[in-house]
Amino acid sequence: MRAASFLVAAFAASVASAARIQVLIGANKTANASMIFMPQEIRAFAGDTVVFNFTNGTYELIQSEFDAPCVPLHDHNVTLNGFDTGPRPANNGSSPTTFELPITDNTTTIWFYENSTCAEGGVGGININDSSTETLDGFTRNAIRLNGTGASSSASIPLSTGFGASSTGSSSTSAPSTSQSGTSGATRNALTGAALALPMAVAALFL
Ligand SMILES: *[C@@H]1O[C@H](CO)[C@@H](O)[C@H](O)[C@H]1NC(C)=O
Ligand SMILES: *[C@@H]1O[C@H](CO)[C@@H](O)[C@H](O)[C@H]1NC(C)=O
Ligand SMILES: *[C@@H]1O[C@H](CO)[C@@H](O)[C@H](O)[C@H]1NC(C)=O
Ligand SMILES: *[C@@H]1O[C@H](CO)[C@@H](O)[C@H](O)[C@H]1NC(C)=O
Ligand SMILES: *[C@@H]1O[C@H](CO)[C@@H](O)[C@H](O)[C@H]1NC(C)=O
Ligand SMILES: *[C@@H]1O[C@H](CO)[C@@H](O)[C@H](O)[C@H]1NC(C)=O
Ligand SMILES: *[C@@H]1O[C@H](CO)[C@@H](O)[C@H](O)[C@H]1NC(C)=O
Ligand SMILES: *[C@@H]1O[C@H](CO)[C@@H](O)[C@H](O)[C@H]1NC(C)=O
Ligand SMILES: *[C@@H]1O[C@H](CO)[C@@H](O)[C@H](O)[C@H]1NC(C)=O
Ligand SMILES: *[C@@H]1O[C@H](CO)[C@@H](O)[C@H](O)[C@H]1NC(C)=O
Repeated sequence: MRAASFLVAAFAASVASAARIQVLIGANKTANASMIFMPQEIRAFAGDTVVFNFTNGTYELIQSEFDAPCVPLHDHNVTLNGFDTGPRPANNGSSPTTFELPITDNTTTIWFYENSTCAEGGVGGININDSSTETLDGFTRNAIRLNGTGASSSASIPLSTGFGASSTGSSSTSAPSTSQSGTSGATRNALTGAALALPMAVAALFL
C-alpha cells in the first residue's frame, strides 16, 4: 500500500507541465494581414511548444529579426539560422498542417512573419519583452515601412522602435496565465496583442 502511494506521488510529480500553444494561420477570412496569425503575440515558457496551424490558404512562416521583419533571419545575419516552413497549402481547409516550435527559454524574443502578407503587417512574436522598446507595434510598422507599397529602396529612414510601449503604458495589459499546472497537451491561452493602441500622431511620424 505504502509503495503504491509513493508510486502515485512520483507519477503525479513527473507529469509534464508543458503546454501546447496553438497559433492559427489563415483561419480568419477577413482580408486583414494583422489577422493572419491568431494570436499575433504569444507568451510561452521553457518546455512549452508553440504549434502553428496552417488552417486555410497557402502561407509560409519564416523567422526574422526586429530590424528586418520581412527578411529570413539567416539572410539578414549569416551567423544566425531561423525556421522557414516553406509554403503550406491548406487546400481550402481540407488539409491543415502544423509546424511545432519547442520553446527552450522564455527570455529570448522570437520574431516571425508570413511571407506573402509581411508587407501589410502579417507578423508576430513570441515572448516579447514588455520592458523593451522592441514592441509588436514597432515590428509591424517596420514591416509595413520597409516592405510595404510606400517602401523606399533607400535605407535612410530610421528604424522604428516601440513608441507605443512608453506612451500607452504596458503595465495595464492583460497578464498571461503563469500557471504551469496544466496537463500535457493543455492549451494555455496566449496573449493577444497588448499595446495595439498606438497614438495616431506617433504613427503619422512614420508615414
Ligand atoms: C476575424 O477578424 C476580424 C477583424 O478583422 C474580427 O472582428 C473577427 O472576430 C475575427 N474572427 C475570428 C473568428 O477570430
Ligand atoms: C486590421 O485589423 C486591425 C486589428 O483589428 C485593425 O486595427 C486594422 O484597422 C485593420 N485594418 C484594415 C485595413 O481593416
Ligand atoms: C488545426 O486547425 C484546424 C481548424 O481549426 C483543426 O481542425 C485542427 O484540428 C487543428 N490541428 C491541430 C493539430 O490542432
Ligand atoms: C522585404 O524587403 C527586403 C529588402 O528589399 C527584401 O530583401 C525581402 O525579400 C522583402 N520581403 C518580402 C517578404 O517581400
Ligand atoms: C549577427 O548575430 C550575432 C549573434 O547574435 C551578433 O553577434 C552579430 O553582431 C550580428 N551581426 C550583425 C551584423 O548584426
Ligand atoms: C471552401 O470551403 C468553404 C467552407 O467549407 C466552402 O463554402 C467553399 O465552397 C469552399 N471553396 C472552394 C473553392 O472549394
Ligand atoms: C478559406 O478561405 C477562403 C478565402 O478566404 C474562404 O472562401 C473559405 O471559406 C475558407 N475555408 C474555410 C474552410 O474556412
Ligand atoms: C519568464 O518566466 C518567468 C517565470 O518563470 C517570469 O517571471 C518572466 O516574466 C517570464 N518572462 C517573459 C518574457 O515572459
Ligand atoms: C517570399 O516572397 C517574396 C516576395 O514575394 C518572394 O520573392 C520569395 O521567393 C518568397 N519566399 C521566400 C522564402 O522569401
Ligand atoms: C527586457 O528589456 C529591458 C529594457 O531594455 C532589459 O533591461 C531587460 O534585460 C530585458 N529582458 C530580457 C529578458 O531580455
